[in-house]
Amino acid sequence: MSEADIDLRADPVFRADVLEGLRGPRRAIPARWLYDERGSELFDEITRLPEYYPTRTETKLLERCLTDVARYVGPGAAVIEFGAGSATKTPLLLQAIKPSAYVPVDISGDYLRASADLVQAKFPDVNVVPIEADFTQAMTLPDDVDGTQRLGFFPGSTIGNFVPRSSVNLLRHMRETLNEGAKLLIGFDRVKPTSVLIPAYNDAAGVTAAFNLNLLHRINRELGGDIPVDAFVHEVLWNDMQSRIEMHLRCTRAVRFSVAGEVFAMREGEGIHTENSHKYDLRGLRLLLRAGCWTPLADWSADNDWFTLVLAEAAPIYSAP
Ligand code: AVI
Repeated sequence: MSEADIDLRADPVFRADVLEGLRGPRRAIPARWLYDERGSELFDEITRLPEYYPTRTETKLLERCLTDVARYVGPGAAVIEFGAGSATKTPLLLQAIKPSAYVPVDISGDYLRASADLVQAKFPDVNVVPIEADFTQAMTLPDDVDGTQRLGFFPGSTIGNFVPRSSVNLLRHMRETLNEGAKLLIGFDRVKPTSVLIPAYNDAAGVTAAFNLNLLHRINRELGGDIPVDAFVHEVLWNDMQSRIEMHLRCTRAVRFSVAGEVFAMREGEGIHTENSHKYDLRGLRLLLRAGCWTPLADWSADNDWFTLVLAEAAPIYSAP
């Protein structure tokens, strides 16, 4: 490999995360890197798979609970969505809440602007103000939403892709961004039988496998790697102790490869951990919200208890005892 093989536009943080993650001893690469353009397309496809219940279940639940949510929030609020927004869930929320402003926050500028334009076309009376930023960190909101009731929106159980320590930090940062008096509508995927969970992350059509393996293609393309992708398989397991689905890339034979000029060797059966998707029970998710400085006000669960939406209120930062 020569320097010329490295995509000069490659994100230096991606490079550092991949190299550090491959060095081990327990190899792991942060899940956020699964979402390049192809990864985002594949994830979109995942949400429509028969086995992937979360998107369908949460959408149905939103349809059922939004009248109640609107009563808690009142008209004219500013909706701050953490993530670029979904083509179905966001319009449902805006239709019901009747906000004055909509502020989607996402790190991927192109995707963010495209989805913000769609929302603006559909809701011409709403002030749409996209912010290109990392939503895991606290940020300053635009002056346009000063003095307005704020509703944070974090659907999809994306919270589940963070380990508990990071999810608490994330919730606290959201609390800091949204400030006193704000509310948060957040989705949590629930613990359920592994006969449902495993196929949701290992579908018959192989879309989730392609999504996971795409990470290796991305590394090869952007970081001048020569990983033999055909030596890896998609693996999904339920980690009961941590209450989460894990995705791994498992090596089916011994391999040697290089990435950004650094050489790695993996034995047959070794893996790279690529994603966690935590699943919650009701008391656990309420406790997590409290730890993140949010007080649950109301929650709505799917009829089969597969998914829960919670409306929470910003808690005072220093509460006793
Ligand atoms: C984005 N996130 C909530 C998905 C999940 O279910 O954890 C990501 C995903 N990974 C594989 N399938 C879906």
